[in-house]
Amino acid sequence: MNNYAKARAHTNIALVKYWGKRNAALKLPTTNSLSLTLDQFYTDTSVQFDDHLTSDQVTLNNHRLDEPAARRVTDFLNIVRNQAGITTKAIVKTTNNVPTAAGLASSASGFAALAAAASKASGLTLNQRELSRLARRGSGSATRSIDGGFVEWHKGIGDRTSFATQVAPADYWDLNVIAILVNQQPKKMSSSEGMQLSQTTSPYYHEWEKLCQRDLKKLKIAIKNRNFNDLGTIAEENAMRMHALTLSAAPDFCYFDADSLKAMRLVHQLRESGIPCYFTMDAGPNVKVLVEPEHRESVVSTLQAAFGPDHIVVAAPGPGVQYFR
Ligand code: DP6
Repeated sequence: MNNYAKARAHTNIALVKYWGKRNAALKLPTTNSLSLTLDQFYTDTSVQFDDHLTSDQVTLNNHRLDEPAARRVTDFLNIVRNQAGITTKAIVKTTNNVPTAAGLASSASGFAALAAAASKASGLTLNQRELSRLARRGSGSATRSIDGGFVEWHKGIGDRTSFATQVAPADYWDLNVIAILVNQQPKKMSSSEGMQLSQTTSPYYHEWEKLCQRDLKKLKIAIKNRNFNDLGTIAEENAMRMHALTLSAAPDFCYFDADSLKAMRLVHQLRESGIPCYFTMDAGPNVKVLVEPEHRESVVSTLQAAFGPDHIVVAAPGPGVQYFR
């Protein structure tokens, strides 16, 4: 058995979001979603299966991972071990170049890197679709981080058909995503809990599912035509509708903080002044701004003046999973 492997996976930002599961154990989503993989935020993970171990040993940024996160990794390794027909425990070392659990989708890059490293180290040979299906079992958004560029996650009809495929590669469209790091504290309500609560209690959930289907069709046309204003409008509207589900849940909850609202307002003002830019937000307070390179500098300087240069990270479309030798 080739018992060691190391892989890198990048995060992705959903332009049409995944916000609900129809099967929680298999992480089968209620809707298709479509994302852009980002070059600046990534996770490196090595996995070493070792016959001498009696339990899995998991570190994140050189610190032993606490429960329940460690349990989640072991549960995922059990899926890999099951597929590979082994029982060997593993040493897992992860380094995150992503603010953990602050809505910059570290679970996406985390589980995509873990799926790639663990499957390879266990001796499995998986194609992109199989790897994407495996990553899905760790975290839904990880399904889309196996590929680079624009990626669609097909909800499928079951485990075998729920995987992601590339819509367009990273170099297809020169775009930027500017991340405003307003708050890097771990979020209070996890995505899993948040989507479940939205799905079971928001009276608008059914409408969300219908609109996602429409948004997805329109977004694919916008990507095909490289129509930035359409892409931005769809992404911003879709994100706000997702957050409307949290506001309309019972009990209600909210991922925005005061600085998120300030960032959204700034984006609106920039747009009113003739600079095309749009925002999107995941399950955390950080705001990501979509812009084309010709307007990047004016947006970056406005955001730096408002939030401080250390809080602004400029990303571009990024690659899919990569293996270290
Ligand atoms: C708002 O993938 O973190 O980022 O499948 O329960 O692990 P689990 O959820 P997760 O949810 C991501 C939600 C989102 C939208 C998206 O990435 O599509």
